[in-house]
Amino acid sequence: MSEQLSSESTAPRTESHDPAVPPAYAAFMRTGWAEQHRQVPRHPVAPHAAARRARLAEAFPGERLVLPAGTFKVRSNDTDYRFRPDTAHTYFSGNQTTDAVLVVEDGESVLYARPRSSRETDEFFRDRQYGALWAGERPSLPELADGLGLEVRHVSELPDALAHGPKTRVHRGVSEAVDALLPADPSTDDELARVVSEMRLVKDAWEVEQLQEACDITTLGFEDSVREWDRVLEHGERWIEGTFFRRARAMGNDIGYDSIVGGGSHATTLHWIDNTGPIVPGQLVLLDMGVEGRSLYTADVTRTLPVSGAFTPLQRDLYELVLTAQTRGIEAVRPGAPFLAAHDAAMTVLAHGLADLGLLPVPAEEALDPESKVYARWTLHGTSHMLGMDVHDCGRAAPEAYTKAELAEGMVLTVEPGLYFQADDLLVPEELRGIGIRIEDDILVTADGSRNLSAALPRASADVEEWMGRLRG
Ligand code: GLY
Ligand code: MN
Repeated sequence: MSEQLSSESTAPRTESHDPAVPPAYAAFMRTGWAEQHRQVPRHPVAPHAAARRARLAEAFPGERLVLPAGTFKVRSNDTDYRFRPDTAHTYFSGNQTTDAVLVVEDGESVLYARPRSSRETDEFFRDRQYGALWAGERPSLPELADGLGLEVRHVSELPDALAHGPKTRVHRGVSEAVDALLPADPSTDDELARVVSEMRLVKDAWEVEQLQEACDITTLGFEDSVREWDRVLEHGERWIEGTFFRRARAMGNDIGYDSIVGGGSHATTLHWIDNTGPIVPGQLVLLDMGVEGRSLYTADVTRTLPVSGAFTPLQRDLYELVLTAQTRGIEAVRPGAPFLAAHDAAMTVLAHGLADLGLLPVPAEEALDPESKVYARWTLHGTSHMLGMDVHDCGRAAPEAYTKAELAEGMVLTVEPGLYFQADDLLVPEELRGIGIRIEDDILVTADGSRNLSAALPRASADVEEWMGRLRG
Protein backbone atom coordinates (compact mmCIF):
# COMPACT_ATOMS: atom_id res chain seq x y z
CA MET A 1 0.00 0.00 0.00
CA SER A 2 1.37 3.37 -0.81
CA GLU A 3 1.08 6.32 1.46
CA GLN A 4 -2.54 7.10 2.26
CA LEU A 5 -3.99 10.49 2.74
CA SER A 6 -7.66 9.55 2.54
CA SER A 7 -9.83 9.03 5.57
CA GLU A 8 -11.54 6.02 4.04
CA SER A 9 -10.38 2.81 5.59
CA THR A 10 -8.70 0.59 3.07
CA ALA A 11 -7.82 -3.07 3.16
CA PRO A 12 -4.73 -3.84 5.19
CA ARG A 13 -1.61 -4.61 3.22
CA THR A 14 -1.34 -8.36 3.31
CA GLU A 15 0.49 -10.90 1.17
CA SER A 16 -0.75 -13.80 -0.91
CA HIS A 17 0.77 -16.30 1.49
CA ASP A 18 -0.95 -14.83 4.57
CA PRO A 19 -3.51 -17.20 6.07
CA ALA A 20 -7.23 -16.48 5.77
CA VAL A 21 -8.89 -14.33 8.42
CA PRO A 22 -12.42 -15.60 8.99
CA PRO A 23 -14.90 -13.21 10.65
CA ALA A 24 -14.80 -15.01 13.97
CA TYR A 25 -11.03 -14.62 14.21
CA ALA A 26 -11.17 -10.96 13.16
CA ALA A 27 -13.93 -10.16 15.66
CA PHE A 28 -12.09 -11.95 18.46
CA MET A 29 -8.84 -10.14 17.67
CA ARG A 30 -10.54 -6.77 18.08
CA THR A 31 -11.52 -7.42 21.68
CA GLY A 32 -9.74 -7.44 25.00
CA TRP A 33 -6.87 -4.95 24.58
CA ALA A 34 -5.72 -2.52 27.24
CA GLU A 35 -5.96 1.23 26.63
CA GLN A 36 -2.58 2.58 25.67
CA HIS A 37 -1.32 6.01 26.40
CA ARG A 38 2.30 6.54 27.16
CA GLN A 39 3.83 9.58 28.77
CA VAL A 40 6.22 10.85 26.11
CA PRO A 41 8.91 13.29 27.23
CA ARG A 42 9.55 16.32 25.08
CA HIS A 43 12.24 15.49 22.50
CA PRO A 44 15.35 17.69 22.90
CA VAL A 45 15.03 18.77 19.28
CA ALA A 46 11.60 20.33 19.89
CA PRO A 47 12.65 23.89 20.83
CA HIS A 48 15.23 23.96 18.02
CA ALA A 49 12.68 22.74 15.48
CA ALA A 50 10.23 25.41 16.68
CA ALA A 51 12.84 28.13 16.16
CA ARG A 52 13.61 26.77 12.70
CA ARG A 53 9.92 26.81 11.76
CA ALA A 54 9.67 30.41 12.89
CA ARG A 55 12.61 31.36 10.64
CA LEU A 56 11.13 29.39 7.74
CA ALA A 57 7.79 31.15 8.10
CA GLU A 58 9.58 34.51 8.14
CA ALA A 59 11.17 33.65 4.79
CA PHE A 60 7.72 33.12 3.22
CA PRO A 61 5.32 35.51 4.95
CA GLY A 62 1.64 34.81 4.40
CA GLU A 63 2.33 31.54 2.62
CA ARG A 64 1.75 27.88 3.35
CA LEU A 65 4.70 25.47 3.24
CA VAL A 66 4.28 21.72 2.98
CA LEU A 67 7.11 19.39 3.99
CA PRO A 68 6.39 15.65 3.86
CA ALA A 69 8.35 12.92 5.65
CA GLY A 70 7.88 10.40 2.84
CA THR A 71 6.89 6.80 3.09
CA PHE A 72 8.32 3.31 2.74
CA LYS A 73 10.37 2.43 -0.35
CA VAL A 74 10.12 -1.05 -1.80
CA ARG A 75 13.30 -3.06 -1.77
CA SER A 76 11.77 -6.11 -3.39
CA ASN A 77 8.22 -7.39 -3.63
CA ASP A 78 6.69 -6.90 -0.18
CA THR A 79 9.92 -6.01 1.56
CA ASP A 80 10.74 -2.37 2.17
CA TYR A 81 13.94 -0.58 3.05
CA ARG A 82 14.12 0.60 6.62
CA PHE A 83 12.38 3.97 6.67
CA ARG A 84 14.46 7.12 6.91
CA PRO A 85 12.50 10.40 6.89
CA ASP A 86 13.25 13.28 4.61
CA THR A 87 15.91 15.52 6.11
CA ALA A 88 14.03 18.81 5.74
CA HIS A 89 10.91 17.31 7.27
CA THR A 90 12.74 16.13 10.36
CA TYR A 91 14.83 19.30 10.60
CA PHE A 92 11.69 21.41 10.92
CA SER A 93 9.50 19.00 12.89
CA GLY A 94 11.69 16.50 14.76
CA ASN A 95 9.30 13.80 13.54
CA GLN A 96 10.76 10.52 12.32
CA THR A 97 7.57 8.54 11.66
CA THR A 98 6.47 7.65 8.13
CA ASP A 99 3.76 9.41 6.16
CA ALA A 100 3.65 12.58 8.24
CA VAL A 101 3.41 15.99 6.61
CA LEU A 102 4.46 19.24 8.26
CA VAL A 103 2.47 22.30 7.24
CA VAL A 104 3.85 25.68 8.25
CA GLU A 105 1.49 28.56 7.63
CA ASP A 106 2.39 32.07 8.65
CA GLY A 107 3.97 31.00 11.91
CA GLU A 108 1.39 28.35 12.79
CA SER A 109 2.49 24.75 12.30
CA VAL A 110 0.56 21.49 12.18
CA LEU A 111 1.95 18.00 11.79
CA TYR A 112 -0.45 15.78 9.87
CA ALA A 113 0.46 12.28 10.95
CA ARG A 114 -0.59 8.71 10.58
CA PRO A 115 -1.74 7.44 13.97
CA ARG A 116 -1.29 4.18 15.79
CA SER A 117 -3.53 1.49 14.30
CA SER A 118 -6.89 1.29 15.94
CA ARG A 119 -7.79 -2.03 17.54
CA GLU A 120 -11.21 -1.71 15.90
CA THR A 121 -10.02 -2.60 12.41
CA ASP A 122 -7.88 -5.42 11.05
CA GLU A 123 -4.93 -3.12 10.44
CA PHE A 124 -3.16 -3.68 13.75
CA PHE A 125 -2.81 -7.44 13.25
CA ARG A 126 -2.87 -7.77 9.46
CA ASP A 127 -1.07 -4.82 7.92
CA ARG A 128 2.59 -5.49 7.32
CA GLN A 129 3.65 -1.85 7.12
CA TYR A 130 1.48 -0.09 9.65
CA GLY A 131 0.11 -2.87 11.88
CA ALA A 132 1.46 -2.88 15.42
CA LEU A 133 1.74 -6.67 15.51
CA TRP A 134 3.86 -6.64 12.32
CA ALA A 135 5.82 -3.43 12.42
CA GLY A 136 5.60 -2.26 16.03
CA GLU A 137 3.42 0.36 17.64
CA ARG A 138 3.46 3.77 16.06
CA PRO A 139 3.13 6.70 18.43
CA SER A 140 -0.42 7.92 18.87
CA LEU A 141 -1.21 11.44 17.71
CA PRO A 142 -1.24 12.80 21.31
CA GLU A 143 2.09 11.11 21.95
CA LEU A 144 3.55 12.73 18.85
CA ALA A 145 2.19 16.09 19.97
CA ASP A 146 3.67 15.70 23.45
CA GLY A 147 7.04 14.59 22.14
CA LEU A 148 7.42 17.22 19.45
CA GLY A 149 5.58 20.14 21.00
CA LEU A 150 3.52 20.50 17.85
CA GLU A 151 -0.15 20.50 17.02
CA VAL A 152 -0.81 17.11 15.44
CA ARG A 153 -3.81 16.11 13.32
CA HIS A 154 -4.74 12.95 11.45
CA VAL A 155 -3.08 12.82 8.03
CA SER A 156 -6.46 12.13 6.46
CA GLU A 157 -7.31 15.80 7.17
CA LEU A 158 -4.47 17.01 4.96
CA PRO A 159 -6.24 17.07 1.56
CA ASP A 160 -9.03 19.28 2.92
CA ALA A 161 -6.56 21.47 4.76
CA LEU A 162 -4.68 22.12 1.52
CA ALA A 163 -7.77 22.52 -0.67
CA HIS A 164 -8.12 26.26 -0.01
CA GLY A 165 -6.00 28.98 1.40
CA PRO A 166 -2.89 30.99 0.71
CA LYS A 167 -0.13 30.49 -1.82
CA THR A 168 1.29 27.04 -1.10
CA ARG A 169 4.75 25.66 -1.73
CA VAL A 170 5.50 21.94 -1.56
CA HIS A 171 8.86 20.32 -0.80
CA ARG A 172 8.58 17.97 -3.77
CA GLY A 173 10.08 14.63 -4.62
CA VAL A 174 9.60 13.26 -1.12
CA SER A 175 6.01 12.00 -1.22
CA GLU A 176 4.17 11.06 -4.39
CA ALA A 177 0.86 11.30 -2.54
CA VAL A 178 1.52 14.84 -1.32
CA ASP A 179 2.98 15.93 -4.67
CA ALA A 180 -0.26 14.79 -6.31
CA LEU A 181 -2.41 16.98 -4.06
CA LEU A 182 -1.27 20.26 -5.58
CA PRO A 183 -0.13 21.15 -9.09
CA ALA A 184 3.62 21.48 -9.28
CA ASP A 185 5.00 24.97 -9.70
CA PRO A 186 8.77 24.83 -10.08
CA SER A 187 9.04 28.59 -9.81
CA THR A 188 7.77 28.49 -6.22
CA ASP A 189 8.59 24.96 -5.09
CA ASP A 190 12.25 25.12 -6.11
CA GLU A 191 12.65 28.22 -4.00
CA LEU A 192 11.31 26.37 -0.96
CA ALA A 193 13.82 23.57 -1.58
CA ARG A 194 16.60 26.12 -1.87
CA VAL A 195 15.65 27.95 1.31
CA VAL A 196 15.28 24.80 3.43
CA SER A 197 18.73 23.74 2.22
CA GLU A 198 20.31 27.13 2.87
CA MET A 199 18.77 27.39 6.34
CA ARG A 200 20.71 24.26 7.29
CA LEU A 201 24.09 25.67 6.24
CA VAL A 202 24.83 27.04 9.73
CA LYS A 203 24.46 24.55 12.55
CA ASP A 204 23.28 25.54 16.02
CA ALA A 205 24.98 24.31 19.17
CA TRP A 206 22.63 21.34 19.53
CA GLU A 207 23.35 20.23 15.97
CA VAL A 208 27.09 20.47 16.59
CA GLU A 209 26.62 18.19 19.62
CA GLN A 210 24.81 15.70 17.40
CA LEU A 211 27.58 15.80 14.81
CA GLN A 212 30.22 15.38 17.50
CA GLU A 213 28.36 12.35 18.83
CA ALA A 214 28.14 10.88 15.32
CA CYS A 215 31.90 11.38 14.93
CA ASP A 216 32.58 9.80 18.32
CA ILE A 217 30.55 6.69 17.48
CA THR A 218 32.28 6.61 14.11
CA THR A 219 35.63 6.55 15.92
CA LEU A 220 34.43 3.51 17.87
CA GLY A 221 33.38 1.85 14.62
CA PHE A 222 36.83 2.39 13.09
CA GLU A 223 38.42 1.03 16.27
CA ASP A 224 36.13 -2.02 16.19
CA SER A 225 37.23 -2.67 12.63
CA VAL A 226 40.93 -2.65 13.49
CA ARG A 227 40.33 -4.84 16.56
CA GLU A 228 38.83 -7.39 14.17
CA TRP A 229 41.88 -7.36 11.90
CA ASP A 230 42.50 -11.12 11.97
CA ARG A 231 39.01 -11.75 10.70
CA VAL A 232 39.30 -8.81 8.31
CA LEU A 233 42.28 -10.59 6.76
CA GLU A 234 40.28 -13.79 6.60
CA HIS A 235 37.03 -12.39 5.18
CA GLY A 236 38.03 -9.18 3.43
CA GLU A 237 36.35 -5.83 2.94
CA ARG A 238 32.89 -6.91 4.02
CA TRP A 239 34.09 -7.85 7.48
CA ILE A 240 34.94 -4.19 8.00
CA GLU A 241 31.64 -3.09 6.49
CA GLY A 242 29.72 -5.39 8.82
CA THR A 243 31.77 -4.53 11.88
CA PHE A 244 31.23 -0.81 11.36
CA PHE A 245 27.52 -1.33 10.68
CA ARG A 246 27.09 -3.16 13.98
CA ARG A 247 28.46 -0.16 15.87
CA ALA A 248 26.30 2.24 13.82
CA ARG A 249 23.12 0.33 14.57
CA ALA A 250 23.95 -0.32 18.20
CA MET A 251 24.75 3.28 19.13
CA GLY A 252 23.31 5.37 16.32
CA ASN A 253 20.45 5.15 13.89
CA ASP A 254 22.30 3.67 10.92
CA ILE A 255 25.23 4.37 8.67
CA GLY A 256 24.91 7.78 7.02
CA TYR A 257 25.85 6.34 3.62
CA ASP A 258 27.00 2.96 2.37
CA SER A 259 30.43 2.26 3.78
CA ILE A 260 33.27 2.45 1.28
CA VAL A 261 35.88 -0.21 2.06
CA GLY A 262 38.51 -0.21 -0.65
CA GLY A 263 41.31 -2.73 -0.27
CA GLY A 264 44.23 -2.32 -2.70
CA SER A 265 43.15 -0.92 -6.06
CA HIS A 266 39.51 -0.72 -4.95
CA ALA A 267 40.60 2.43 -3.13
CA THR A 268 40.86 4.13 -6.52
CA THR A 269 37.10 3.73 -7.05
CA LEU A 270 35.71 6.74 -5.23
CA HIS A 271 32.44 5.17 -4.14
CA TRP A 272 33.47 1.52 -3.90
CA ILE A 273 30.52 0.09 -1.95
CA ASP A 274 30.51 -3.43 -3.38
CA ASN A 275 33.14 -4.26 -0.78
CA THR A 276 33.69 -7.68 -2.27
CA GLY A 277 37.46 -7.65 -2.19
CA PRO A 278 40.14 -9.17 0.01
CA ILE A 279 42.29 -7.27 2.45
CA VAL A 280 45.87 -8.08 1.51
CA PRO A 281 48.95 -7.47 3.70
CA GLY A 282 51.36 -5.05 2.08
CA GLN A 283 48.53 -3.07 0.45
CA LEU A 284 46.56 -0.09 1.73
CA VAL A 285 42.87 -0.12 2.61
CA LEU A 286 40.72 3.00 2.32
CA LEU A 287 37.84 3.22 4.82
CA ASP A 288 35.21 5.92 4.21
CA MET A 289 32.54 5.34 6.84
CA GLY A 290 30.18 7.44 8.94
CA VAL A 291 27.64 6.77 11.64
CA GLU A 292 24.26 8.50 11.47
CA GLY A 293 23.19 9.22 15.03
CA ARG A 294 19.71 8.84 16.48
CA SER A 295 18.83 12.42 15.57
CA LEU A 296 19.97 11.68 11.98
CA TYR A 297 23.15 13.77 11.89
CA THR A 298 25.95 11.87 10.20
CA ALA A 299 29.71 11.74 10.32
CA ASP A 300 31.75 11.23 7.13
CA VAL A 301 35.30 10.12 7.87
CA THR A 302 38.01 8.50 5.75
CA ARG A 303 41.21 6.88 6.84
CA THR A 304 43.68 4.98 4.68
CA LEU A 305 45.46 2.26 6.62
CA PRO A 306 48.44 0.00 5.88
CA VAL A 307 47.03 -3.50 6.05
CA SER A 308 50.19 -4.93 7.59
CA GLY A 309 50.23 -2.19 10.23
CA ALA A 310 53.18 -0.26 8.77
CA PHE A 311 53.45 1.87 5.63
CA THR A 312 56.07 0.96 3.04
CA PRO A 313 58.38 3.88 2.18
CA LEU A 314 56.47 4.55 -1.05
CA GLN A 315 53.09 4.35 0.66
CA ARG A 316 54.30 6.66 3.42
CA ASP A 317 55.58 9.27 0.94
CA LEU A 318 52.26 9.33 -0.89
CA TYR A 319 50.32 9.30 2.38
CA GLU A 320 52.31 12.25 3.71
CA LEU A 321 51.59 14.15 0.52
CA VAL A 322 47.84 13.66 0.95
CA LEU A 323 48.12 14.43 4.66
CA THR A 324 49.92 17.70 3.94
CA ALA A 325 47.25 18.58 1.40
CA GLN A 326 44.54 17.85 3.95
CA THR A 327 46.31 19.80 6.69
CA ARG A 328 46.68 22.85 4.42
CA GLY A 329 42.99 22.42 3.54
CA ILE A 330 41.92 22.31 7.18
CA GLU A 331 44.09 25.34 7.95
CA ALA A 332 42.22 27.26 5.25
CA VAL A 333 38.89 26.75 7.02
CA ARG A 334 37.86 29.84 8.99
CA PRO A 335 34.99 32.32 8.98
CA GLY A 336 35.13 34.61 5.99
CA ALA A 337 37.31 32.29 3.91
CA PRO A 338 35.80 31.16 0.62
CA PHE A 339 34.16 27.72 0.76
CA LEU A 340 36.62 26.65 -1.94
CA ALA A 341 39.69 27.78 0.06
CA ALA A 342 40.21 24.28 1.50
CA HIS A 343 39.98 22.75 -1.97
CA ASP A 344 42.36 25.28 -3.49
CA ALA A 345 44.89 24.82 -0.68
CA ALA A 346 44.77 21.04 -0.90
CA MET A 347 44.97 20.96 -4.69
CA THR A 348 47.96 23.30 -4.68
CA VAL A 349 49.83 20.81 -2.49
CA LEU A 350 48.78 17.81 -4.57
CA ALA A 351 49.53 19.40 -7.93
CA HIS A 352 53.04 20.33 -6.79
CA GLY A 353 53.48 16.85 -5.35
CA LEU A 354 52.41 15.29 -8.64
CA ALA A 355 54.84 17.58 -10.46
CA ASP A 356 57.62 16.48 -8.11
CA LEU A 357 56.77 12.89 -8.99
CA GLY A 358 57.28 13.84 -12.61
CA LEU A 359 53.73 13.00 -13.57
CA LEU A 360 52.32 16.30 -14.79
CA PRO A 361 52.56 17.10 -18.51
CA VAL A 362 52.83 20.83 -17.66
CA PRO A 363 54.29 22.79 -14.72
CA ALA A 364 52.20 22.63 -11.51
CA GLU A 365 51.05 26.26 -11.66
CA GLU A 366 49.88 25.79 -15.24
CA ALA A 367 48.07 22.57 -14.26
CA LEU A 368 46.34 24.46 -11.44
CA ASP A 369 44.89 26.97 -13.89
CA PRO A 370 41.11 26.46 -13.93
CA GLU A 371 41.34 26.12 -17.70
CA SER A 372 43.74 23.19 -17.36
CA LYS A 373 43.23 21.09 -14.24
CA VAL A 374 45.20 18.20 -15.72
CA TYR A 375 46.45 17.29 -12.24
CA ALA A 376 42.85 16.27 -11.41
CA ARG A 377 43.37 13.02 -13.35
CA TRP A 378 44.77 11.84 -10.00
CA THR A 379 42.66 13.84 -7.52
CA LEU A 380 39.29 13.42 -9.20
CA HIS A 381 36.84 15.07 -6.76
CA GLY A 382 36.15 18.20 -4.76
CA THR A 383 37.77 18.47 -1.36
CA SER A 384 34.76 19.55 0.67
CA HIS A 385 31.03 19.31 1.07
CA MET A 386 28.69 20.47 3.78
CA LEU A 387 27.83 17.87 6.40
CA GLY A 388 24.75 17.58 8.57
CA MET A 389 21.67 15.39 8.49
CA ASP A 390 22.60 14.55 4.92
CA VAL A 391 26.12 13.40 4.21
CA HIS A 392 26.14 15.82 1.29
CA ASP A 393 24.14 18.39 3.20
CA CYS A 394 22.35 21.47 1.91
CA GLY A 395 22.39 20.04 -1.62
CA ARG A 396 19.73 22.41 -2.99
CA ALA A 397 21.44 25.57 -1.75
CA ALA A 398 22.23 28.10 -4.46
CA PRO A 399 25.91 28.24 -5.45
CA GLU A 400 25.96 31.86 -4.24
CA ALA A 401 25.14 30.59 -0.73
CA TYR A 402 27.35 27.49 -0.80
CA THR A 403 30.18 26.74 -3.20
CA LYS A 404 30.67 30.39 -4.19
CA ALA A 405 30.09 31.74 -0.69
CA GLU A 406 32.25 32.45 2.33
CA LEU A 407 32.39 30.13 5.31
CA ALA A 408 30.59 31.23 8.47
CA GLU A 409 30.81 30.17 12.10
CA GLY A 410 28.66 27.09 12.65
CA MET A 411 29.13 25.54 9.23
CA VAL A 412 30.43 21.98 9.17
CA LEU A 413 32.25 20.68 6.12
CA THR A 414 34.46 17.79 5.19
CA VAL A 415 38.06 18.22 4.09
CA GLU A 416 38.94 15.12 2.11
CA PRO A 417 41.61 15.32 -0.55
CA GLY A 418 42.80 12.14 -2.17
CA LEU A 419 45.25 10.72 -4.68
CA TYR A 420 44.13 7.93 -6.95
CA PHE A 421 46.34 6.02 -9.37
CA GLN A 422 44.16 3.68 -11.39
CA ALA A 423 45.49 0.16 -11.95
CA ASP A 424 45.42 0.67 -15.73
CA ASP A 425 46.95 4.15 -15.80
CA LEU A 426 49.86 3.96 -18.21
CA LEU A 427 50.95 7.51 -17.36
CA VAL A 428 52.20 6.61 -13.89
CA PRO A 429 55.06 4.30 -12.91
CA GLU A 430 54.00 0.75 -12.31
CA GLU A 431 54.65 0.88 -8.57
CA LEU A 432 52.01 3.62 -8.18
CA ARG A 433 49.28 1.83 -10.09
CA GLY A 434 46.40 0.64 -7.94
CA ILE A 435 47.14 2.94 -5.01
CA GLY A 436 44.37 5.14 -3.64
CA ILE A 437 44.68 7.37 -0.57
CA ARG A 438 42.06 9.69 0.95
CA ILE A 439 42.02 11.33 4.37
CA GLU A 440 38.77 12.95 5.45
CA ASP A 441 37.74 14.84 8.56
CA ASP A 442 34.65 16.75 9.63
CA ILE A 443 35.50 20.37 10.35
CA LEU A 444 33.39 22.86 12.30
CA VAL A 445 33.92 26.53 11.47
CA THR A 446 34.40 28.32 14.80
CA ALA A 447 34.51 32.04 15.63
CA ASP A 448 38.23 32.24 15.01
CA GLY A 449 39.13 29.19 12.94
CA SER A 450 37.97 25.60 13.00
CA ARG A 451 37.59 22.51 15.16
CA ASN A 452 38.10 18.98 13.85
CA LEU A 453 35.13 16.93 15.09
CA SER A 454 36.77 13.67 13.97
CA ALA A 455 40.23 14.41 15.43
CA ALA A 456 39.98 11.38 17.75
CA LEU A 457 41.04 9.19 14.83
CA PRO A 458 44.78 9.51 14.15
CA ARG A 459 45.94 11.04 10.87
CA ALA A 460 49.73 11.20 11.00
CA SER A 461 51.30 8.08 9.52
CA ALA A 462 53.21 7.19 12.70
CA ASP A 463 50.10 7.75 14.82
CA VAL A 464 48.06 5.53 12.50
CA GLU A 465 50.66 2.76 12.87
CA GLU A 466 50.79 3.11 16.66
CA TRP A 467 46.96 3.11 16.84
CA MET A 468 46.67 0.00 14.68
CA GLY A 469 49.33 -1.78 16.69
CA ARG A 470 47.64 -0.94 19.99
CA LEU A 471 44.17 -2.06 18.85
CA ARG A 472 45.43 -5.28 17.29
CA GLY A 473 47.16 -6.11 20.56
N1 GLY B 1 31.70 9.81 1.94
C1 GLY B 1 31.44 9.83 0.59
C2 GLY B 1 31.40 11.15 -0.05
O1 GLY B 1 31.65 12.15 0.57
O2 GLY B 1 31.04 11.23 -1.20
MN1 MN C 1 32.74 13.06 2.21
